[in-house]
Amino acid sequence: MIGVLVSGEGTNLQAMIDDGLPIAAVASSTPRAPALARAEEAGIETAVFALADFAAREERDEAMADWLAGRGVELVVAAGFMELLRPAFLERFPDRIVNVHAALLPAFPGVRPVADALAAGVAETGATVHLVDEGIDSGAVLLQESVPVVDGDSVETLRTRIQTVEHRLLPRAVRLLLADPVGAG
Ligand code: GAR
Repeated sequence: MIGVLVSGEGTNLQAMIDDGLPIAAVASSTPRAPALARAEEAGIETAVFALADFAAREERDEAMADWLAGRGVELVVAAGFMELLRPAFLERFPDRIVNVHAALLPAFPGVRPVADALAAGVAETGATVHLVDEGIDSGAVLLQESVPVVDGDSVETLRTRIQTVEHRLLPRAVRLLLADPVGAG
């Protein structure tokens, strides 16, 4: 089963729901994420793990890993989850945590990939699905697709074009991982 981590709108979560992927649980870093309503609408169990509710980040990460594991989660998808995951969490799902990022990594890692690409004046940027490690958007790339930057693009228009690609790429990458048991390469 899949567990999804969210912080925001949840359009990538919605793409996975619409694709019929087996999602058992959705964990959010904030009670204000519209993604929570999407999960509830689809009948998926949700919980909020806000840093402010825990004494330390490690405690939050462990509680979140326990909650996911308790729901049969074996594959974790960070879909717009805007916080770094610590080893306490990563060690619980080795090579089974993926992230979707709105740039052609290794270009433009971090929290503002669309604005950064626009500011850099590149002719193309893109979308990446990658395995999560301890770095910032630095794990092995699973799938990647480029997206052109066009004259007159704003952060909003470019983000919309990139997210259309993300919504196609992420379910595909997740299905590839589900079909590939850990250690099979
Ligand atoms: C996505 O575009 C994703 O690439 C980005 O946040 C957005 C979440 O949208 N994630 C990152 O930048 C992570 N570094 P969503 O909540 O509508 O799926």
